[in-house]
Amino acid sequence: MTTDENLAAVVSTTQGDYRVVVGRGVIDDIGPEMKSAGLSGRAFLVADVSMFPTAVHRTHEALERAGFVTNVMTLELSERVKNMETVLDIYQWLSEHRAERIDTVVAMGGGVAGDLVGFVAATWLRGVPVVQVPTSLAAMVDASIGGKVAVNLPAGKNLVGAFHQPKLVLQDVDHLKTLPAREMAGGFAEAIKHGLILDADLLDTFEKNADEMQSLETDLAVRTIRRSVQIKAEVVSADEFERGETRILLNYGHTIGHAIEAVSGYGEYLHGEAVAVGMMAAAGIAQRLGMIDAELVDRQRAVLQRYSLPVTVKGVTAEQLIEATKTDKKNRGGNIRWVLLEGPGKSVTRRDVPEDVVREAVEAVIE
Ligand SMILES: NC(=O)c1ccc[n+]([C@@H]2O[C@H](COP(=O)([O-])OP(=O)(O)OC[C@H]3O[C@@H](n4cnc5c(N)ncnc54)[C@H](O)[C@@H]3O)[C@@H](O)[C@H]2O)c1
Ligand SMILES: [Zn+2]
Repeated sequence: MTTDENLAAVVSTTQGDYRVVVGRGVIDDIGPEMKSAGLSGRAFLVADVSMFPTAVHRTHEALERAGFVTNVMTLELSERVKNMETVLDIYQWLSEHRAERIDTVVAMGGGVAGDLVGFVAATWLRGVPVVQVPTSLAAMVDASIGGKVAVNLPAGKNLVGAFHQPKLVLQDVDHLKTLPAREMAGGFAEAIKHGLILDADLLDTFEKNADEMQSLETDLAVRTIRRSVQIKAEVVSADEFERGETRILLNYGHTIGHAIEAVSGYGEYLHGEAVAVGMMAAAGIAQRLGMIDAELVDRQRAVLQRYSLPVTVKGVTAEQLIEATKTDKKNRGGNIRWVLLEGPGKSVTRRDVPEDVVREAVEAVIE
């Protein structure tokens, strides 16, 4: 069983508490971890095909070693196939193998795998246990924790979904070795965001150890990812259903970030890249409102650039972006709730941001 030095957090939710484990080689412990989470029965491992077959095989072996009879399905997963059709394919596979209520679905891959396979688990037989094994940095520090699962419809992203908390989240940092560099940078945007909004020390660590962090080779790198994961876990525990004042802070940079994704066409900018530019726009707003000084804005820009993230956007207008913020499903029916910094590691929400301030700040991030 994993020693507790790898334990990032225990997430506490109305659907039960679960461990989030972050470390090197921890995939080998998946069996004992699942047992101590109270799981038995068979395992249905659904893996993103972009994972190396050896990594999937190792997970399969680790499950069998602990006595979980395991079936494996690998799928070519992407945002484009994060839909009902793929869900039906997985239901079909589960029904062929007569998957039962006591069996566990294991989702292995990026956030697409976690959301889609988690949605299958939420609905198959009205809900079976799911274990999340995120393999992208973005999924580790964000999507795998919190129980939000969903698929896309032609009408929009993540329109059909559920809250289905996992029984365990197991994050093997070694899986990141095969993650493409650009995806890695996108994940760092979310990880650094946690420092910016809630933890000045974490921000500091990201700033001072950028090379070490990006090589992922040291204990410090693992500890820092674990800390970023812990922040997401704490936020989810404090505000499970996004009704309070806490979980919304994770939306820092996302108002303009989502607008950039929507206007430039999904796929042009990775989500994390759009969020990086969105955080620059939000910092510009906070500076214009006198909440932070230019020094913090510069610091944020510098750290994002050190992690190869964009801080400006091309090919869109301020008008288009502002229009898109108004049609975002999160902002319908009322003033936009902006997440703004008050200082390093300190954030608040504000609804009273004048549109001309937004426009100026947005214009400043357009090339
Ligand atoms: N549920 C939530 O709370 C939540 C939060 C944020 C995002 N999301 C969702 O997460 C998704 C984005 O997640 P993502 O950024 O991980 O994207 P993704 O799942 O598409 O993964 C990014 C790319 O990396 C590949 N990949 C993943 N792990 C790999 C590895 N170890 N080695 C090689 N390649 C690997 C994938 O095949 C894909 O091409 C979106 O669908 C978004 O809606 C959900
Ligand atoms: Zn995000």
